[in-house]
Parts: sequence; C-alpha cells; structure tokens
Amino acid sequence: MSGQGDQPEKHGRKLRSQLWFDNPDNPGMTALYLERYLNFGLTRAELQSGKPIIGIAQTGSDLSPCNRHHLDLAKRVREGINAMGGIAFEFPVHPIQETGKRPTAALDRNLAYLGLVEVLYGYPLDGVVLTTGCDKTTPACIMAAATVNIPAIVLSGGPMLNGWWNGERTGSGTVVWKARAQHAAGEIDYDTFMDIVASSAPSVGHCNTMGTASTMNGLAEALGMSLPGCAAIPAPYRERGQIAYETGRRAVEIVWEDLKPSDILTREAFENAIRVNSAIGGSTNAPIHLNAIARHVGVPLTVDDWQDVGLDIPLLVNLQPAGAYLGEEFHRAGGIPAVVAELIAEGKIHEGALTVNGRSMGENCKGKISWDREVIRPYSDPMKEAAGFLVLRGNLFNNAIMKTSVISQEFHDRFLSNPDDPNAFEGRAVVFEGPEDYHHRIDDASLGIDEYTLLFIRGTGPLGYPGGAEVVNMQPPAALLKKGINALPCIGDGRQSGTSGSPSILNASPEAAAGGGLSLLKTGDRVRIDLLKGTADILISDAELNQRRADMQAHGGFPMPQSQTPWQEIQRSMVEQFDEGMVLKPAVKYQRVAQT
Ligand code: FES
Ligand code: MG
Repeated sequence: MSGQGDQPEKHGRKLRSQLWFDNPDNPGMTALYLERYLNFGLTRAELQSGKPIIGIAQTGSDLSPCNRHHLDLAKRVREGINAMGGIAFEFPVHPIQETGKRPTAALDRNLAYLGLVEVLYGYPLDGVVLTTGCDKTTPACIMAAATVNIPAIVLSGGPMLNGWWNGERTGSGTVVWKARAQHAAGEIDYDTFMDIVASSAPSVGHCNTMGTASTMNGLAEALGMSLPGCAAIPAPYRERGQIAYETGRRAVEIVWEDLKPSDILTREAFENAIRVNSAIGGSTNAPIHLNAIARHVGVPLTVDDWQDVGLDIPLLVNLQPAGAYLGEEFHRAGGIPAVVAELIAEGKIHEGALTVNGRSMGENCKGKISWDREVIRPYSDPMKEAAGFLVLRGNLFNNAIMKTSVISQEFHDRFLSNPDDPNAFEGRAVVFEGPEDYHHRIDDASLGIDEYTLLFIRGTGPLGYPGGAEVVNMQPPAALLKKGINALPCIGDGRQSGTSGSPSILNASPEAAAGGGLSLLKTGDRVRIDLLKGTADILISDAELNQRRADMQAHGGFPMPQSQTPWQEIQRSMVEQFDEGMVLKPAVKYQRVAQT
C-alpha cells in the first residue's frame, strides 16, 4: 500500500469505468456517457485518465435515521477515495428503516437489493463502498455486491451511544419489550413508558444492543467485508470518521488489486461468521440474511449448517438482550477482532480466510484478546455454553430455529426442569392468525392461557405477511404478567426482533401460507418440543393430519391476505422461504454479472 494516490499507468489495466468514459471503439457513446458527468465540474482529463470511480452506496436519509449520519461520513469516504487517486460517485439506495416501514422493513430488503444491482451493473463504477447500519441495509448491500461482483467494501455506521434511564442502561428495542410489559402490568404510565423508550436512542447510529443491526454489521466484518474493528465503533466517536476515511482509501486499492466479493465470501468465511454469531449472541435474522448472501454468491449454505457449525460455540459477549452491556462497552472491549481472537485461540476460525484489507482473518485478529473480561468473556468462562441456534423439525415444519442463549431461568424452571425429561416440554397450543389477531385476543380469558400454554402465531412468513413479520415473541396475557409469568414458549412462521430476549421457535419453513404443517394446527392441540432430538410435533396421528390437510385444500387452502402494493405482489410471486434466505428465486441465477 502506498501513501500517495497510485497513478493509473502503474497498473497497466483498463478499468471497467473506461468502457463508459474512454472507449475509442465507440466515440459517440463515450461522448454521451461522458458529457453529463462533466457538468458538475469534473474535467475530461479526470474521467478519461483511468482513475478508479468508486460508488458510495448511500443508505442514509431522513427516512432512515439509523443510517442518516452516513450522509456526513460520506465526506470522509470521499476524501479517502480522492487521497488514493480515485473519484467518488455517491448515489442513494432505497431507504430501509426497520422500525418505521409498514408493513415490515424486511419487505424492502430484496427491493433495495434489486435497485442496487441495477446501479452497480449499469453505471460506470469500478468499486463500491457499501454504507450499512440498520438491520436490512447490510444484507441488501452485500447481496447486491455479491451478485454484481465488483470490488466492494462495507462501511458500518456504528451503534448509537448507550442509553440510560435512572442509572441503568437502556438498550434499543430490548427496553421496549421490558417497558411494554411494565406498562401492560400497570406499573408505569404512558408518558414514563415513552420516556424510557426514548432514552434508549440518545444519538445518531443504529441499535446499540446486539440486535439485527449490530449482528449483521458484526457478521459483515466476520465475513471479511469491512476493515477490522469497523462494526463496533459507536456512530458519534471520532474513530468512526477515521475508519470512513480508511475505507475510502482501501476502496481504491481493492479496485487495483481486483479483490472481489467472490474472493472473500467463501464457505470458510460463512463458517467463520456463523461461529462469531454464536459468540456475540447474534440475531435470529442472521441465518436468513447470511443464507441469502451465500445464495447470491453461489456458496452452498443451509439452515442446518447453523446448528452443525455454530451450536457448540459459547456466548462470549455480554451485551443486551442476552447480557447486560451495550455498544460502547463492546467497542471498548475490542469488538469483533477480540471475539475472533478468542475463537482463533480455540481453533474455531478458518484463519486463512481472506479479508478486504488484503490480509487474512488470522493476521487481522490473532492475539487481539480483550482486556475487559466482563464484556467479552474468555472461551473457558463464557456467559453460556453451546449458544448457537438449534434447528427443530417435525410435522409442524421442515425447519425452524431457536436461539438457546436467551432461555431464561424462569423459562427453564417452568418448561425444562422435569428430571425424567429435562430437554423436552409439552403443552396445549393456542393459535393466533397473525399479529392483529394476537393483539385482539391475547387477553381473552376464554382461550384458557395459563403458565404452561404454548403460543403459536402463523400467517406471518414471507408470503403470509409480505416480507415476514417480526412478531413471534408474544407477550403473555396481562393476567399472567401480573403473576410474574414473563414468558411463554412462542412458536411461529414469522421472525422476531434481534433485540428481543425471547427463546422463540421461529422462521418456520415452510410457512403456513406455503402449506407448512403449522397451517394444520388447532387451538387445543397438544404439541411436544424436544430440544435434544430437535423435534417439534403436533401430537396427533398421521391420519388425522392428512384429513386436516384434505379439509383445508377442499376449502381453498390457507387464507392469503391481499397485497397492498405492487411490490408486495411481485415479491410474493417469486420469493423463497426463510430457510432459503427469502431470496427472489429468479435473481439467484444471476451471479458475478459485472462486465469487466
Ligand atoms: Fe434501525 Fe435497529 S431500528 S438499527
Ligand atoms: Mg429488527
């Protein structure tokens, strides 16, 4: 790496952007391609001298507050690009705001992906800086870079500062679940509820808990797609601007080195990311998004790999919702490199996996063990053993996952303490048809919900609730909350927020709307979940199950709500289930599509 901007002639290679701006075979098209980019002050010499043109895929906007500070960080990225002799072209990515988009932000992941693929493919870009942050912005950007396969580097936006209320840390999302339960139980009034929740969002940045945003940005780093240490730097810290500058510089170098996403996103990289996900207590949305990235880059990865590769890894990171701390402590304790170092010391990382700084994961992270053992625990003294995702299957679904790291003592004592059968529980099912039905009926005493009931929700997968709703973690009825029963087993074909500390069984595939076994379940059925065998079954005979299926088909199948927008209908016509990454089926066959 040189300190000066490398001059194009040193590299002796024509860049992709020169197909647009300097194509002697087609002067007419070159002139047309060129002239409009001159009108904001660029000179012909700049555009025709073979300087790398680096896109800055801008995910920040007023509609996307979690990523909004990327509008400012982009200036530092641009300066880094310029310093290395590149030219920056910043452009907008379809906004995705996790908490503000109706019906759900997940619907837009594939839309932003498609839009970004077209931009990266169709414009004169030699490389791209992917600005990431809020939950789905990270996978959408990496999926697109994987499809097009031009040199790409992730710049995370970083988490918000820690939130505080009455001397206690209030973490994004996680505090909402807690405060909502207090409000429902009548312990706090509406204004206090609002104030507590607002306290958890004290600055720019994405969620400061180990929710889906911190997870996906951490996994982007574990995959090797960002500079080491990038993910955990809090958004307002000075290091955030500094790494934006370094990311811009590196974006130019990877163009000259022709270091592409397909060189980094290997099977080894995905296995590293799965293990890191267990160690950080990552979100249950991670398998959906990582499997999607793998599909677009053509690496085989299944939901079973999450259990096979990741289940045995202990929880090391003491962050909410599984632990106590927030983003600032995680950064100070060493962030992702310190977690990777801990895994390297146990032989749990493919050290040779190449990363975007040109070095291997081992070279970047080995020995970077944390000094703060309260926040990043040693492998030998973890927060929890075997903290990865368990994969369950049976007549309810082909697969669903469970985040075992968040099983509370209360939950354990009520459901997993039978000495003869310590890994299984059985109970009466109460079934809700989506979130509206749940909110409408949860306090209905005639449902007979007690502390041993299993709550089910369906019609909430990629088809049933376009994009898949984050609703599986259902709060028990107020009457039980008042008795101190804070959680019941929740099972469903939707997702749940990464900020939720609920040990739900979720992402069930196929969903009810795709004909999965969940569609045949009735309130009052007994269901058995065996965590050791990995099974989840309605306790009825096959004959009865077949009869129910025949009855449902005779009545036109599982009821599907109307789409409300064109994209909902388009996505539903071609989207895969959660276990397949919820990707658009026809998109997967387009791999490494950039012309060079
Ligand atoms: Fe955007 Fe959590 S809501 S990061
Ligand atoms: Mg979320």
